[in-house]
Amino acid sequence: MIANAVTCLIAHWFQQCYIEVEFRERQATPRMTDNPLKPSPEIKKVALGISGGIAAYKAAEVLRGLQLAGCSVRVAMTKRACEFIQPLTLRALSGAHVIVDDYALDNPDPIAHITFSQTVDLFIVAPATANIIAKFANGVADDFLTSTYLACTAPVLIAPAMNPTMWHHPATVRNLSQLRKDGVRIVDPDSGEMACGTIGPGRLNDPERILAAALELLAKGRVTQDLADERLLITTGATREELDPVRFISNRSSGRMGFAIAEAALSRGAEVSVVAGATSVNSPKGVRVTRALSAHEMHEAVMKKLPKATVFIGAAAVADYRPAQRAATKQKKSQSSLVLTLERTRDILGDVASARTNGLLVIGFAAETNDVLFNAQEKLRTKNLDAIVANDVTRIDAGFDSTENAITILVRDGQGPLELPLMSKLEAAHRILDEIVRLRAKTETSAVAGL
Ligand code: PMT
Repeated sequence: MIANAVTCLIAHWFQQCYIEVEFRERQATPRMTDNPLKPSPEIKKVALGISGGIAAYKAAEVLRGLQLAGCSVRVAMTKRACEFIQPLTLRALSGAHVIVDDYALDNPDPIAHITFSQTVDLFIVAPATANIIAKFANGVADDFLTSTYLACTAPVLIAPAMNPTMWHHPATVRNLSQLRKDGVRIVDPDSGEMACGTIGPGRLNDPERILAAALELLAKGRVTQDLADERLLITTGATREELDPVRFISNRSSGRMGFAIAEAALSRGAEVSVVAGATSVNSPKGVRVTRALSAHEMHEAVMKKLPKATVFIGAAAVADYRPAQRAATKQKKSQSSLVLTLERTRDILGDVASARTNGLLVIGFAAETNDVLFNAQEKLRTKNLDAIVANDVTRIDAGFDSTENAITILVRDGQGPLELPLMSKLEAAHRILDEIVRLRAKTETSAVAGL
């Protein structure tokens, strides 16, 4: 963190097919291309539609991403979509029957458009063509996908993909505006060179972004109160170590990650207290926030509140060093160079772990630029933590001051790192809390067994 801090000082100064997804056994692992399994406590269902466009093949990536995020997938395709990607591919990936024609004799479910649309937690259409957008906007139900949309009781997410001219056409603009009014969430397309050679907006957005939006919608639907017995103490934001009355050493932490954990925990029934350094975003409603700007102040505030906590989460970016002396007045630029003497700050997380009593769970973060997993594992071990959340802070779309994060969770005596794809910080927060629920269950089982 000191390297970051010093950097900041100097500057001062992230046609249609349809898939049913269900949260069940979680496939816990790295990226959208890998696969190992790990159980998830959540069960949710999602439906994903794929329209007949050149980007239809990317639906397979969305499908895999959803699986890796803890979903099982079933697919139904339109005839046009089948010309761009084979139903067999999606059947193999999803492990379930792919509906192309719900009137076909091989369709195992004669009222599939109702079954799928009214038993799911989310309905995704990616890619969504101009044609399907027009049908959705006008309530046309002339095939399986459009009938499913009309019968759907779940939130709907669409990811349009089309030629830039079609995207800008007043009819498409009007239809999308109607869908927004109807509550449909839209992941706008990217700009760039299209398959037809045209340059402009219309390219299907990155599957990871579609996945992030899907997971965020799913996270909002959570209603479990599985943290009702927990009192969480969370640190967030950046500490500021003053050099004089106007200058300080700090870093780019916005406070979003810690606040997202607070918001998620609150929605799951926990009592939440946050000790925040400098933050650039508002704290979530209903969360008690104590301000502590320096590492020293944060240490004091945390230790004071610790006896009441059952879980401590250190998401703050705390300076490891501070100026050995703080000048009482603003320092003049009288010298051609300036040498600063820094001294170590107290390690809040380490001190909390050393002071742990009565089943306190201690979770740290690791902001790393290299050897991310190795360094995080070392912090997990040396600081005697229950779990650590590793961030690769060299990514521009994740980590410091971004709305999304791509985290890896390492649990002491766990089954191996849980590397999650890019997702909103709120969803990442829920995944961290899922691990805490699992850890708590494990410690209670051990206590009952006398281990
Ligand atoms: O705030 P955001 O913009 O949303 O960004 C989120 C984040 C990147 C800041 C956050 O997710 C994160 O990684 N926080 C930890 C940053 C950090 O200081 O990491 P570290 O590897 O230097 O520290 C390891 C752990 O020790 C952290 O849990 C830290 O809070 C803690 N620590 C460090 C030094 C210290 N003196 N006391 C501490 O408690």
